[in-house]
Amino acid sequence: MPGTERTSTDLKLVRDRWYVILETHELPSGRPLGVTRLGLPLVLWRDSAGVLRCASDRCPHRGAALSLGRVVDGCVECPFHGFRFDGAGACTRIPANGTEGPIPSAMRTTAFEVREAKGFVWLWYGERPSGGIQALPELPWFPEIDDRYVYASFADDWDAHYTRAVENQLDFTHLPFVHATSIGKAVPHRLDVLTTVTGDHIRVTYDPATYDAKGFFVELLAPTLWRNRLSANVWAMIAFVPVDATHTRLYLRFYQSYVTLPGLGWFASWLSNQFNRHILHQDKRVVLTQEPRQTHLQMGEVLLPSDRPIIEWRRWVKAGGGDE
Ligand code: FES
Ligand SMILES: [Fe+2]
Repeated sequence: MPGTERTSTDLKLVRDRWYVILETHELPSGRPLGVTRLGLPLVLWRDSAGVLRCASDRCPHRGAALSLGRVVDGCVECPFHGFRFDGAGACTRIPANGTEGPIPSAMRTTAFEVREAKGFVWLWYGERPSGGIQALPELPWFPEIDDRYVYASFADDWDAHYTRAVENQLDFTHLPFVHATSIGKAVPHRLDVLTTVTGDHIRVTYDPATYDAKGFFVELLAPTLWRNRLSANVWAMIAFVPVDATHTRLYLRFYQSYVTLPGLGWFASWLSNQFNRHILHQDKRVVLTQEPRQTHLQMGEVLLPSDRPIIEWRRWVKAGGGDE
């Protein structure tokens, strides 16, 4: 079945969700791209109509990486013996059998549904609905972050399980310690947080009784999209990309609508990201030391009321079957 392939770098993920796997600008033109995402070796390429295609990067013939091959007639061609595979994963040509030769029905690679939107490449991780791909859910997004905003982004690779990386962005009480020299300077040590869970949304605010942060909140659109309202016209956003069980890629975007002139708007966002990178690396330094690598709802950590957002996230993962 599509989307069921597992590898030795196995990740237990919540299924039947869209996951960001790349930024669109990372796609090369005219050749296939091989990447590991969601614990899977993947090959991406564009077919003859320019539509992005994705399949397992393992040739069903004898296991070579299809991404080392080339794109011919909209198919990806294996570099080893020249077998070609279309966007549905079907083999269309076996040179050694001749152009009209038989193609065994088992000669297939696993295809994945992918989409391009908001500057990201998204992969559907789960079963194909019985109603066909038209029945797949809409891509997740925060509707308030719309075309009025200009963003700049950067990628950061963490040697961490994605659960640890996500949890760090739901944690408020680390601010006065991890970020004592930056964004945590004014944040008091004594803190309570308020957590609201609505479906896939986990929203966290400071309890105003302990800190008045004037509209600041963070929200996880589980499992992997996160945003932080910094002011009326500024958002920070992170797309967490589970690479394998010990690696996660973070795409951090700074969205603002106060400078939107072409070029200048991007530059303003880019400038802010120099600071954001510094903040993120303060987080990274500590998160990479956390053991065990993957978190679970039941794991023996001693959690407190201020860890409520993290407990809610772990509940969400467990309910979705990603806690094993
Ligand atoms: S291993 Fe791919 S064609 Fe033989
Ligand atoms: Fe932080």
